[in-house]
Amino acid sequence: MTVKIAPSILSADFARLGEEVKAIDEAGCDYIHIDVMDGHFVPNLTFGPPIIKCIRSWTDKPFDVHLMIDPAQVYLEEYAAAGADIITVHAEADKHLDRSLQVIKGLGKKCGVSLNPSTPESALEYVIDQLDMVLVMSVNPGFGGQSFLTSQLDKISRIKAMAGDRPIDLMVDGGVNSGTIKSVVDAGANAVVAGSAVFKGDDYKATIGALRNAL
Ligand code: DX5
Ligand code: ZN
Repeated sequence: MTVKIAPSILSADFARLGEEVKAIDEAGCDYIHIDVMDGHFVPNLTFGPPIIKCIRSWTDKPFDVHLMIDPAQVYLEEYAAAGADIITVHAEADKHLDRSLQVIKGLGKKCGVSLNPSTPESALEYVIDQLDMVLVMSVNPGFGGQSFLTSQLDKISRIKAMAGDRPIDLMVDGGVNSGTIKSVVDAGANAVVAGSAVFKGDDYKATIGALRNAL
């Protein structure tokens, strides 16, 4: 199985964001993972639709937009218009997850649900048929460079079983590096986010290659 690698531009050089996106594209990434934070749902603030729009022309790879914002539902149209291909909302945000997913689908985009480390996989039970992606947080969201929470491995396996043969990307986000990627994939993930692990060196092809080689 080929594992999809989605570098998180949270760890990129924001002053050269367009070039950084182009560089990870040329280094062979599968998705561009875009961490949107509002300083309310998570204790950190990043960027919103105008910046996503600015970097859209630097790559044709899918924009995997991870919304760590609450509310999210009222902004979905703006993120779709800015160039998102996959829009992931948190199960813990807003009050009406099913409606958020319907809105994303109605905008013609793929939809995902993310679960914080303390949220059980049962939160997916009644929406799983609508999903294109499940994003399991293996750190508490808000910052790059945190340590992988091994407590999430069990959850990944259970979600893999729940998903069955549905065509859902099971992506893991947080603390994924060449030392942890194998455990995540062995548990059932087919996609990973990697922020600091990719951007720590200057040669992104080498850092993405190191992740693939660790499998
Ligand atoms: C955390 C973000 C992650 C983060 C991952 O809130 O959702 O995408 O950038 O960074 P690393 O790979 O450094 O843990
Ligand atoms: Zn993320």
